[in-house]
Amino acid sequence: MDLKQEIFAPDGSIFDTHAHYDDQCFDECRDELLTELSTHGVGYIINNATGLFTSAEKCLEMSRRFDFCYTAVGIHPELVETEGATVDEQRFCELIKQPKVVAVGEIGLDYYWSTDRKEQQKAVFRRQCELANEHSLPVIVHDREAHGDTLDILREIRPKGSVHCFSGSREMALELVKLGLFIGVGGVVTFKNARKLVEVVEAVPLESILLETDAPYLSPVPYRSKTCHSAYIYYTALKVAEIKNISVNEVLKITSDNAKRLFNIK
Ligand code: NI
Repeated sequence: MDLKQEIFAPDGSIFDTHAHYDDQCFDECRDELLTELSTHGVGYIINNATGLFTSAEKCLEMSRRFDFCYTAVGIHPELVETEGATVDEQRFCELIKQPKVVAVGEIGLDYYWSTDRKEQQKAVFRRQCELANEHSLPVIVHDREAHGDTLDILREIRPKGSVHCFSGSREMALELVKLGLFIGVGGVVTFKNARKLVEVVEAVPLESILLETDAPYLSPVPYRSKTCHSAYIYYTALKVAEIKNISVNEVLKITSDNAKRLFNIK
């Protein structure tokens, strides 16, 4: 992994609220990369598990070994098939009691990849939102081509949390903000065709925005084809700063403060 690019973020100023360093593409370079990221402005990373077993274990291990790594545990909608149609609640409760587990995620609905399991996805998402409320944890929500149902469930169960890699409309974003939720903004905002997300960032107050990568996916321009990592958030922040007409350091500061507040991290 090449970190020699120009990143001028102040020390510890980057808070990546959504990453997947448990992904096997990092198996060869994980430790080296994480160590290096901490010297390139990255102060906080939340690894979002996609399942309650292998993925959660790998994320928790990073939390134990790296001060700046935290974990979200949950069942990703794409894994509803392999993890079962209901939540293994005993396992779930065991996991959320582990140190540095700060959220329930990545949970939600994905009608792009799996259209045939909508009811199962909804049931698993709904139950995980309820469990998050019971344990006073925020949720990190995945919503792909499922805006209506996602909004309905969030409105009904009212967890706190964020909708990661937000892809909905300006109206939906404002509706989520009204519910007290945060809008997760990643590298997509730097893409040429990102008009809709730019409108969202224009409309939503910075106090309701979180920055994220979704690493290893969705690297911002000018690294779009590369494997994504948390230091690239600098480029996402630059774009947000341009839209909001404020400095990039201010964007990093306010969005980091938002994340610390939401995830209860000092
Ligand atoms: Ni993700």
